[in-house]
Amino acid sequence: MPDIGFLNGQFLPLAETKVSVEDRGFQFGDGIYEVVRTYGGRPFRLHAHLDRLDRSAQALGITLPYGRREWTAWIEEGVRQAGHAETKVYIQITRGAAPRDHVIPPGLQPTVVMTFRELRPLDRAVQRDGIAAITVPDLRWGRCDIKSVNLLANVLARQRASEAGVFEAIFLRNGEMTEGAVSNVLVVRRGVVATPPEGERILSGVTRAVVLELARKDGVPVEERPVSETELRSADEVLLTGTTVEVLAVVRLDDRPVGQGRPGEVGRRLHARFQASVG
Ligand code: PDD
Repeated sequence: MPDIGFLNGQFLPLAETKVSVEDRGFQFGDGIYEVVRTYGGRPFRLHAHLDRLDRSAQALGITLPYGRREWTAWIEEGVRQAGHAETKVYIQITRGAAPRDHVIPPGLQPTVVMTFRELRPLDRAVQRDGIAAITVPDLRWGRCDIKSVNLLANVLARQRASEAGVFEAIFLRNGEMTEGAVSNVLVVRRGVVATPPEGERILSGVTRAVVLELARKDGVPVEERPVSETELRSADEVLLTGTTVEVLAVVRLDDRPVGQGRPGEVGRRLHARFQASVG
């Protein structure tokens, strides 16, 4: 099945989906995005993603060209046309194209791009055995709650992880962990889950919210509060959550074992609960 693109109201073959070199997304990173995946062919928690898209757009003063029903219809149509078993939907809205000027010209038409690519599930061995991560300084700007396409710090962090032969980079800022380059991070100590609170330091992850709710329902105590680097390094378990990683155990951090060096009980249970809730 072909990967499908979408540009300003039109579905196209992905290779033909092209925008102007004067697009402000290209020149300034002046735009926002979402990544939504399907389970059983249905977009997962689409409303939560669209809520966050609204918040990001509002924060940057971009007026979204579609309402909730139109977004839903376009996305469902793209998923249908792509015809994949499971689809990774990338949604990007930039402020539009104009001669380069930092000052935003009035009357710009936002550029809406979507891609509908086949989603390949994470390797079963990775899910079962967990992954390794490194820590890196959090060099990002002060509004990490906005899902902006300015991802340079995330790109460089994940590249460092890749060069170190590990899966994820976990950001540290002022002696506290914030999140991963592509995921939120939870630590488990003595059966209690702790994760940084929503706010400007982290992206308010859709998966994070689902997993915290599942944990609470399961009777696992959850604390949304700052988590120190020391707590991260002495955790019994470290878990990543995210659209692409689902619930994933970190079993090595900066070349040292996390807890017993293998996925722990809380992570295994949350992973199973999560899989059951999406199935
Ligand atoms: N990233 N934190 C960061 C910095 C992220 O980039 C992501 C997701 C998350 C998890 O959010 P959610 O559960 O809503 O996917 C947390 C996407 C998948 C990406 O950039 O590809």
